[in-house]
Amino acid sequence: MGVTVVDHPLVQHKLTIMRDKETSTASFRRLLREISLLLGYEVTRDLELTTKTIETPIETMEAPILEGKKLVFASVLRAGNGLLEGLLDLVPAARVAHIGLYRDHETLEAIEYFFKAPSDLADRLVIVVDPMLATANSAIAAIEKLKGRGATNLRYLCLLAAPEGIERFTKAHPDVPVYTAAIDRHLNEKGYIVPGLGDAGDRLYGTK
Ligand code: URA
Repeated sequence: MGVTVVDHPLVQHKLTIMRDKETSTASFRRLLREISLLLGYEVTRDLELTTKTIETPIETMEAPILEGKKLVFASVLRAGNGLLEGLLDLVPAARVAHIGLYRDHETLEAIEYFFKAPSDLADRLVIVVDPMLATANSAIAAIEKLKGRGATNLRYLCLLAAPEGIERFTKAHPDVPVYTAAIDRHLNEKGYIVPGLGDAGDRLYGTK
């Protein structure tokens, strides 16, 4: 399955601005939305197509359309919502799951406080979104929860990943491909990605 680093120049440029601590909340939010369009392009690149007969103003044609049930974006709250908005611009008919997990600041464990998803996950591609793949605790927990509800076809989309997180995640869920804009150096003792961009949720919503 593996890891895809989306190294498109526009993604890398926007990511650099997002990393800069002087970048405002408004700019950070706009850039995350813009990047999510580019990452979304890559994570959906191999979606299956079928055809449908339509009438153009000129003639009848067999035109390509997406096959299968609508896909699901599963947002890991709250920073996942920063990626979600742009992805829904890209695929407006997608269904949405919300998974509320917070990090216990002592143990760094993922604690669940909210879960709402479409009931027929087994029939759908589920793309889990959360900007930071750090310890991977919440990523692993989110995927476990979705698998427990029947999902079998999953992808994980983030903005930044730590090597430690990728290793833990791919060990726990080798069947789930990871898409990221960059793999940073390491995690620090507080579980932050280095050099990273700080707390994605705080930067996105202007909290601290
Ligand atoms: N979550 C964040 O928001 N930032 C990190 O660096 C790690 C986890």
